[in-house]
This record gives sequence, structure tokens and C-alpha cells, in this order.
Amino acid sequence: MRIAMIGSGYVGLVSSACFAHFGHDVVCVDKDAGKIDRLCKGEMPIYEPGLDQLVEANVTAGRLSFGTDLAQAVHDADAVFIAVGTPTRRGDGHADLSYVYAAAAEIADALGGYTVVVTKSTVPVGTGREVARIIREARPAAEFDVASNPEFLREGAAIEDFMKPDRVVIGVESPRARDVMAAVYRPLNLIQTPMVFTNIETAEVTKYAGNAFLATKITFINEIADLCEKVGADVHDVARGIGLDGRIGRKFLHPGPGFGGSCFPKDTLALAYTAREANAPQTIVEQVIEVNTARKKRMADKVLEFCGGSVRGLRVGVLGLTFKPNTDDMRDAPSLDIVPALQAGGALIVAFDPEGMAEAGKLLPGISFAKTAYEAATGADVLVVITEWHQFRGLDPRRIKEVMRQPRIVDLRNIFDPDEMRGLGFAYEGVGRPRPRG
Ligand SMILES: NC(=O)c1ccc[n+]([C@@H]2O[C@H](COP(=O)([O-])OP(=O)(O)OC[C@H]3O[C@@H](n4cnc5c(N)ncnc54)[C@H](O)[C@@H]3O)[C@@H](O)[C@H]2O)c1
Repeated sequence: MRIAMIGSGYVGLVSSACFAHFGHDVVCVDKDAGKIDRLCKGEMPIYEPGLDQLVEANVTAGRLSFGTDLAQAVHDADAVFIAVGTPTRRGDGHADLSYVYAAAAEIADALGGYTVVVTKSTVPVGTGREVARIIREARPAAEFDVASNPEFLREGAAIEDFMKPDRVVIGVESPRARDVMAAVYRPLNLIQTPMVFTNIETAEVTKYAGNAFLATKITFINEIADLCEKVGADVHDVARGIGLDGRIGRKFLHPGPGFGGSCFPKDTLALAYTAREANAPQTIVEQVIEVNTARKKRMADKVLEFCGGSVRGLRVGVLGLTFKPNTDDMRDAPSLDIVPALQAGGALIVAFDPEGMAEAGKLLPGISFAKTAYEAATGADVLVVITEWHQFRGLDPRRIKEVMRQPRIVDLRNIFDPDEMRGLGFAYEGVGRPRPRG
């Protein structure tokens, strides 16, 4: 199969490398010439574990190339995937579809023979039909079908998720398009990946329903964590106690500072908007958005209360800035609420993140960056864990205590053992963990 991928972001780049690894010929195009330049030089514009080797192997094998010439890539392709951004539209919370529609118009001009135009971007229900309308209007005689193939990969585990997905969802409406999509994903037949073929609207709704459900699960356990803190229960034991019930499942029951990232915040907003427009309001999802937004704002107060009501003049060491580990993605990260609120309270912030500091530097003015986690802790009056990078779990608490000015930790990801930390002389506050009695 010859594939054109429009967009070389987290989804477009990973999908391109993985499709090439499946054996397809892939041309990945982006209008950001800087990104394409770096990719052509073998540099990755994003951090994603294993991506550099996968890209290099497939470029060397001649199956993967990068460019800015959309027309050439599309003209020769059997399938064109749109993987451009769909951020939140200013003002009303709906998805901004301008990039998708602009890509559709460019694709229309370039179509050669029969082509399946696939939306891989997360797009509100109805977008696939609009893409078809745009193309049809521009090129009434063009031979094409549209398809919806939402992407479920997680940043940080994107390659594994793409190569071994729980399922692939494909919305198509013609046997010919179905055949092309089946051929694109044929390598996954060997590992018996379930293929869910649906109509286009169903595939579009499925993506939002999945993300909204996961966001709800996180928000649910976060509220249970609040209750645990008040009544002396331990949310981890509660999560285990309910998660072992097969109907509930253990995943996504880890409490924290509220969900962030490039998907859940914007996708829950877009679903709520679409649903209101369709006169089928998603009141649970609307509540999830509200609870999560308030939670992210409240986390700085948690630090303030722990420090006796004020952080004025305190040096706050921050561990982790990205919205989750194993990515450099800062979009809607809880740190973007927590750090400025602490600064506004008069704190001096010294932060360390293994991959996110370059991006964080643009978004969080006035903070200093440390080269290591220990350096961030050095001289600190309190240490705040915002992202649960694996390497933080292995830190030596004794060494942290030695370098801190005051041994105090607010652990918003519960990476440390409260009893151990308190036993070592730390004042320790986690999320949803019982506090010492008395
Ligand atoms: N990031 C994730 O974990 C994830 C997971 C599943 C689904 N998604 C969805 O996938 C889509 C893409 O997300 P992302 O995180 O990869 O976005 P991104 O912002 O990292 O990348 C989008 C890329 O598209 C390029 N682009 C925009 N218009 C273009 C055009 N007309 N021609 C060529 N290139 C163009 C941009 O320059 C950018 O490099 C979104 O809809 C998102 O919701 C993301």
C-alpha cells in the first residue's frame, strides 16, 4: 500500500513509522518545514521512546520518507491519512476543525486515482461527511471514499499501542474503502487484533466516548481520594479493592492532580459541545470537566495548606512538568496550573523534568531549571511531585532529605511510601492517603 500521512506530530509521525514497519510505502508530510528538515536529518521533533530507531530503520529500508509536498504524496497514494491537530476552538470549547478542512481542500486538489481519505485526527461526529463534501465540491469527478480511523495510542507507549492495539476502529461505507483499510491493517491479523468496522459516525463517536469514559474514571477516583483524605481511608487500597472486580478493572484508578494532556481536556470539551448541539447533553462528561478543572486549580492550595497557609519566600522544588511520564508534551499539563499559582503565592520554583524542560521554558516564565532531581530538591523548603517519571521512584529519600532545607514533600502522584517517608523524618502529604493520627 502507498500511504500519505498529513501531519508529522505525535500521531502522524508514530503512525507513519509504524505503517512503514508494517511494510507499506509511507510519505509523511507537514507544512512545518522546520519539523520536516529535522526529520530528514534523522532528528526527532518530539520525544517518544523507541521512535528514533523505528524511523531510522524504515527510512534506511526505503519505506518511509518526509517532505512538505502534500500534492505529490497524495497523488500517488492509495490511502491518505489526515493526522493534523484538532485543538479546542477559542470561546466555545468545540474542536477547531480548520486544519482538517484545510487539509481536505489541499488533498482534493491533488487526488490521482481511487483514494481513501481517512481522518485519523480526533474529530467530532459529522466531520467525515464534511471532508467528503469539501472534496466532492472541489473535484466532482474524483474517485475517492472517506473513512474514519480514530487513533487510540498513548504518548509514552505510542509504538507499542500502534503495533499491538486492543482494537482498530474503522468507519467506512463502501466495500472498496473497506478493502483498502483492511489491507492497510492486514499485518495486525497475525496477532488477531479485533477490527471493529462501523459506519463513519459511529467511529467518530467511539473515539470521544472512549476518552470521555477514561477521563470519567480518573475523575471518579480523584473524588474518592478526596473522601479518603477526610475520613482516614487509603485510596490505593480502595482502588485495588474495586479494581479487582472484573466489571470495573484496575486501570485508570490512580489518583493524581487531575487529567491533562493533548487529548482528554479538549476531547471532553468537544464531546460536551457536540452533544449539546445534538440536543443530547452529556451531563456526566460536563461534570467531569468541571470537577477536573477545579481540581487542577486546587492542587496549589494543597501545597499552600501543607506549608502552613503560605509559600511566600519559600523555595519549591518541582519534580515533573509534563502531563505524564515518557513524553515531552506539556499541553494542558497540571503543572501549568500549579506552578503559576505557587509563583503568585510568592514561591521561587526550581524544577526538573527529564524531557519537558525545553517546552516548559516557553510556557512557565520565571522558573529555574535544575539538571537533576536532587538539584531541584537542593535547598528546597518543600518538594512537589507533579509527574510520576519512573526515575523519580528510584530516588534515595535519605539523600533528598540531606539536600533539602526543610524535609517536606507534597507527592501529587503517590510515588513515595508515606510510612517510609514519615519514618525518615519527612513531613509528607500524598493524594488520598491517610494522615498520621493525632
Ligand atoms: N497526541 C496523542 O496522544 C493523540 C492520541 C490520539 C489521537 N490524537 C489526535 O490526533 C490528532 C493529531 O494530534 P497530535 O498530537 O499528533 O498533533 P500535533 O499538533 O502534534 O501535530 C499536528 C501536525 O499537523 C501539521 N499540520 C497541520 N495542518 C497541516 C496541513 N494542512 N498539511 C500538513 N501538515 C499539517 C502541524 O504542523 C503539526 O506538525 C488530533 O486530532 C489529536 O486529538 C492525538
